[in-house]
Amino acid sequence: MNRIIQKEQLSEQVYRMRLEAPLIAKERKAGQFIILQVDDDYGERIPLTIMDADPDAGTLDIIFQVVGGTTMKLRDKEVGDSIAHLLGPLGQPTHIVKHENGPVVCVAGGIGAAPLHPIARALKAAGNEVIVIIGARNKDLIILEERFRSFCDEVIICTDDGSAGEKALVTEPLKKLCEAEIPPAEVVAIGPPIMMKFCAETTRPYKVHTVASLNTIMIDGTGMCGGCRVSVNGETKFACVDGPEFDAHAIDFDNLMLRLGSYREQEEEHRCRIGRH
Ligand code: FAD
Ligand code: FES
Ligand code: MG
Repeated sequence: MNRIIQKEQLSEQVYRMRLEAPLIAKERKAGQFIILQVDDDYGERIPLTIMDADPDAGTLDIIFQVVGGTTMKLRDKEVGDSIAHLLGPLGQPTHIVKHENGPVVCVAGGIGAAPLHPIARALKAAGNEVIVIIGARNKDLIILEERFRSFCDEVIICTDDGSAGEKALVTEPLKKLCEAEIPPAEVVAIGPPIMMKFCAETTRPYKVHTVASLNTIMIDGTGMCGGCRVSVNGETKFACVDGPEFDAHAIDFDNLMLRLGSYREQEEEHRCRIGRH
């Protein structure tokens, strides 16, 4: 079970894997994620979005960026190897509706393009006009552009250095779209918290409903540990069971960013602290 069927490198630090997981593949909906543990002797569990699934073949696709210990372990797995534990589908599926009064704008920052992909596709399948804005530091870090172009009405690329598309932050084309004659009916933003925060601030004056998918630290993924708690409209919510998507205008992003940095010192060392070396 949980065998790796395919592995593909998409950019310097980003990989796509197809995993055997028939039960999850059958049940999953856009916006949901899994928690995986790579090996029995390497205890950390990490959440990753289900980027795509084939219920007939019993497989699901994940796309991950190598950023630390567990994603390095995952990168070192090859086709034919297995993932020790896979839990899912987790989280609330995206609320997909057909909007009559304007396009849906999906904004991705960096690896955020992976979790955004199934949501954009589901929004398009529901009959929406879908505009995607992809932002990255440079052209080599843009992923899934052709995939988005294959089904979206428009794809806007922004890079920090101008090596592809506009030399701009994603908030610049987002603001222009908000000022258009027919503004977006909804905006979905997925990426680094600072990017989602500024997308929310961009759409707020135009009163465009905006949703952000939060990448909080998660441990159990079932609402028990409290590790993923976020403040939404002054109320405590658990991203793993109440989210990961929330009304971006109601999220306390400053608190989210503070909590995400809680273990920075320990992560930098990558030293196991539970006695298993
Ligand atoms: P570390 O060096 O341990 O951590 C690097 C950074 O990753 C940390 O600063 C922290 O921000 C984050 N992180 C660390 N541990 C956890 C944890 N247990 N839970 C959540 N975040 C953590 N990444 C992808 O590349 N592709 C995805 O599709 C994707 N989907 C996600 C969906 C959800 C719902 C969430 C919450 C996160 C998602 N992430 C995704 C982020 C991914 O979980 C982290 O990059 C991963 O946990 C890093 O682990 P590490 O040990 O390699 O890095
Ligand atoms: Fe433990 Fe959400 S990850 S409560
Ligand atoms: Mg880690």
